[in-house]
Amino acid sequence: MKLPNQFYRPLAIGAPAPFREPPVKVERMIHFVPPHLEKFRAKVPDIAKQVDVVLGNLEDAIPADAKEAARAGFIEMAKAVDFGSTGLWTRMNSLNSPWALDDMIEVVGAVGNKLDVVMLPKVEGPWDIAYLDQLLAQLEAKNGVTRPIMIHAILETAEGVKNVDAIAAASPRMHGISLGPADLAASRAMKTTRVGGGHPEYKVIADAEGEAPRATFQQDLWHYTIAKMVDACASAGIKAFYGPFGDFSDAAACESQFRNAFLLGCAGAWSLHPTQIDIAKRVFSPDPKEVAFAKRVLEAMPDGTGAVMIDGRMQDDATWKQCKVVVDLAKQVAAKDADFAKIYGL
Ligand code: GLV
Ligand code: MG
Repeated sequence: MKLPNQFYRPLAIGAPAPFREPPVKVERMIHFVPPHLEKFRAKVPDIAKQVDVVLGNLEDAIPADAKEAARAGFIEMAKAVDFGSTGLWTRMNSLNSPWALDDMIEVVGAVGNKLDVVMLPKVEGPWDIAYLDQLLAQLEAKNGVTRPIMIHAILETAEGVKNVDAIAAASPRMHGISLGPADLAASRAMKTTRVGGGHPEYKVIADAEGEAPRATFQQDLWHYTIAKMVDACASAGIKAFYGPFGDFSDAAACESQFRNAFLLGCAGAWSLHPTQIDIAKRVFSPDPKEVAFAKRVLEAMPDGTGAVMIDGRMQDDATWKQCKVVVDLAKQVAAKDADFAKIYGL
């Protein structure tokens, strides 16, 4: 194991020092763009104004014969567009693929100073992060990149879930982790063909009472994994994200899945379709009523200690901390998004 005093050293001579604290950013949606398609690239300057993160996808959903065009398209789009405060990420191909090495050599070589985060798919353990960490340091040094590029892991193999604590703490370059429900379902031999969301057969059934029809309640297939991922991320000081929701025709189910993830501690989700941008914005910005209540609690307990009653509900040091989570997030959202600043009165 690396000793603590080595943890923050750059891994290559000339590479920038890793962040001690990850930059504070509102990242409610990571919006996926297929960069090999000119039609989608042309929309990026507009989309970049609406979303928190634009991600150029090089991995799954890009056909094998378009991998190089996607990489070139991403570089072109990264150079051409002014992203302002919107994050610019790429999802590289997995480390065992024929494209991973060239993805990093070419993208960091061409636009390393504009790239915020590399999303690494199919992470199995901390060894995958260590490899990319070292490679990025070498490429940063070679290409004069001045700001460290962060790594975001996708949790989408059974082995990755088993090792999620070690993955989250593997490097100061870690930005966060997203759930990848499609690959994870396949890796675990779960019997769902959906990309995220529930399944009508994953349910509990009420006890039989005579001849009366028995109520059933659908359960959340992803609850255990999201909770495990959130604990791993929060304890390492990084962020957890819900990943993709594949049924674009079911906005209600998407919103419900995103909201469950938000309530459990996730910071954002992927948007694969423009309709999911507003859903994510709504869900991952705290509820104005919760914000108003949380502000009252903080005002009633200025030093965060003791106990007070507000609207018949007991508040103490612990609820003060809960309220601070909500108000701090509302302040971050308000600083980025004028509509929410007005709604929250911040
Ligand atoms: C995302 O990459 C997934 O596999 O769900
Ligand atoms: Mg996947």
